[in-house]
Amino acid sequence: MIDRILAKRIVPVIVLDDAASAEPLAEALLAGGLDIMEITFRTAAAEESIRRIANRFPEILVGAGTLLDADQVKRAKDAGAQFGLAPGLNPKTIEVAREVGLPFSPGVMTPSDVERALSEGCKLLKFFPAETAGGVPMLKALAGPYGHTGVKFIPTGGITSANLASYLKVPVVAAIGGSWFVDKALVAAGNWSEITRLTREALAAAQDA
Ligand code: 3PG
Repeated sequence: MIDRILAKRIVPVIVLDDAASAEPLAEALLAGGLDIMEITFRTAAAEESIRRIANRFPEILVGAGTLLDADQVKRAKDAGAQFGLAPGLNPKTIEVAREVGLPFSPGVMTPSDVERALSEGCKLLKFFPAETAGGVPMLKALAGPYGHTGVKFIPTGGITSANLASYLKVPVVAAIGGSWFVDKALVAAGNWSEITRLTREALAAAQDA
């Protein structure tokens, strides 16, 4: 899972109101060159969307985001999610993810969060909300005391094609997450060609970085 994410370095944060959008969205991302999807457990359609992607697109690494409790972790895993993320750090959620065999990245924002995550055995962490929590300077500061532990971050929150390169140049950054190229309005409008265009643009920017 980590190798797949490190290869592309971009995780699309997806909110789907209708599971019927999952497949055309997957096609649009694949057409743009991206084979990773994080479908957030914020809507009733999330579970079914993950199930559809897992069944129909074995070439896609599909994950579940916004996993806030043990039940959601189990449901995501049963639906076929191959990884999970959360905006915050919940030891119970981490424990259940480990029990069911779901690679899991909790969210952190402070040095204490990072230490808690390390003590829970987690080394690939979502840094959220990235821009609000200090962005690139904060990640560089965290790299000082924690870089030698092998911890890596997936900053998410406020990232776009305009600032993604500055994040990806920080050595402790494994990948970035963002919703700008899979925006709800684009999905609702079925504007798949624009999603493909923005995906291609994002991947090119990541490649340059
Ligand atoms: C989220 O979990 O909502 C992500 O942080 C997305 O943030 P963004 O919409 O700013 O990309």
